[in-house]
Amino acid sequence: MISSKDSSELLHHLNRIGIALSCEKDLDRLLDLILREARIFARADAGSLFLKQGGGLIFIAAQNETLDSRGGEQKSDYYGSSVKLNNESIAGHVAVTGKVLNIPDAYHLPSEVPYRFLKKFDEENHYRTCSVLAVPMNIPNGEVIGVLQLINAMNEQKETVPFPEMFEELMLSLASQAAVAIRNAMLLEEIKQAHLDTIFRLSKAAEYRDEDTEAHLRRVTGYTIVVAKKLGLQTKEIDFLRYAAPMHDIGKLGVPDAVLLKPGKLTPEEFELMKKHTLIGAKILEGSDQKLFQIAKEIAISHHEKFNGTGYPYGLKGEAIPFYGRIVALPDVFDALTSKRVYKPAFSVAQAVDMIREESGKHFDPVVVKAFIDSLDEIVQVKEKEQT
Ligand SMILES: [Fe+2]
Ligand SMILES: [Fe+2]
Repeated sequence: MISSKDSSELLHHLNRIGIALSCEKDLDRLLDLILREARIFARADAGSLFLKQGGGLIFIAAQNETLDSRGGEQKSDYYGSSVKLNNESIAGHVAVTGKVLNIPDAYHLPSEVPYRFLKKFDEENHYRTCSVLAVPMNIPNGEVIGVLQLINAMNEQKETVPFPEMFEELMLSLASQAAVAIRNAMLLEEIKQAHLDTIFRLSKAAEYRDEDTEAHLRRVTGYTIVVAKKLGLQTKEIDFLRYAAPMHDIGKLGVPDAVLLKPGKLTPEEFELMKKHTLIGAKILEGSDQKLFQIAKEIAISHHEKFNGTGYPYGLKGEAIPFYGRIVALPDVFDALTSKRVYKPAFSVAQAVDMIREESGKHFDPVVVKAFIDSLDEIVQVKEKEQT
C-alpha cells in the first residue's frame, strides 16, 4: 500500500522531473535525462525510448543498469532501427492504441494479445526482460509522438517485480511532460538548422561569384571544427565557429566582377580591390548584439592576416590577430591548395601539408598548424565527405 505521504512525495518528485525536463534544450541530453529520471522514479533496471518517424517507431535511446554494471560492449546496433507502427510489438501496440501496457512477464504473454515480445536483444546480451511498463508519449493535442518503455521494476532486495499499478498513471504523466520537452527541443533544433541553412545560403551567394563553391564552405567549416576540437575549445565556441566560419568570404559580394572573376593574375591595383573583401565582410557583419555575428566579423576581417605580420588588411602580427581568424586562415588555405583552380592544379594532401608545415610561424599560427597536422586523419575524412 502507498500512504498519502508517499503519494505526495511521488507527485513532488514528478513535478521536479517535469521542471528538469523543461529546462533541457539539447535533444540528446534530454533523451538521456528522460530515461534516467523515469527509471529512478519507477525503480526500473532498464528503459528505452521510441519516437514516431516516417510511419514507424524509431528506437532512439536505451539505458540498462545491469548491462552497464557488467561492463564490456553492449549490442547497440538497435539505435536508429525501426519498429512497425502496428500491434505486433509492445511499443507498436502502445503507439497505435495510445494505451499503457503493464506486463508482469514479457516471456509469458496471454495468448489472446496481438503483440509479441522480441527476445533477440535479450539473447544477444544475456539479459532477461521480465516486467515491462510501456506508456505512450502524448503531446497536449492527444497525438502520440513516441513510447517510453521501462523494463524490470526492482524491489528493495534488487529482485525483479511487476510494476505497481499506480505507476501507470504517474508514468503517463511523466511521459507527457517528456513528450512536450522533446517536441520543444526538436523545434529548437529545427530553428537552429534553418538558421544555419540561411547562413550557408547567404555565404554561398558570395562564393558563387567566385570559383569557390558551397563545398568549399562545407570543407572549410568541417576542417575548422576538427581543429577547434583538437585545440580543446568548448562546445559553445565550436558551435559559434560552425556557424561563423562559412561567412568568412561574405565580403566578396562587394568585389567587382572584373576582379573577382578575372582568370589571370591580378594587377597590384586589382589585388588591392580584392583585399577589400575582408573589410566589406566586416562591414556586412558589424554592429550585431549577437555573439555569433561578432565572431563572424572577427573571422571575415582577419582570415588573411599572417602570423608574421605580412598579411592583410592590417598586417597584424602573432596574437594581435584574433584567435578565430588564425584558426580559419589555415583550413581556408588548405582547401584552396587541395582544390583545382584555373591557374593551378589541385595539390595532394601530402604536398599541401608540407607547404603548411613550411609556413608554420610565417603564414600560420604554429599552435593551429600543430592541431591541424595532429588531426590529419579527420581532416581527410571531411575532405572525402564534402567533395561536391
Ligand atoms: Fe578570403
Ligand atoms: Fe574561402
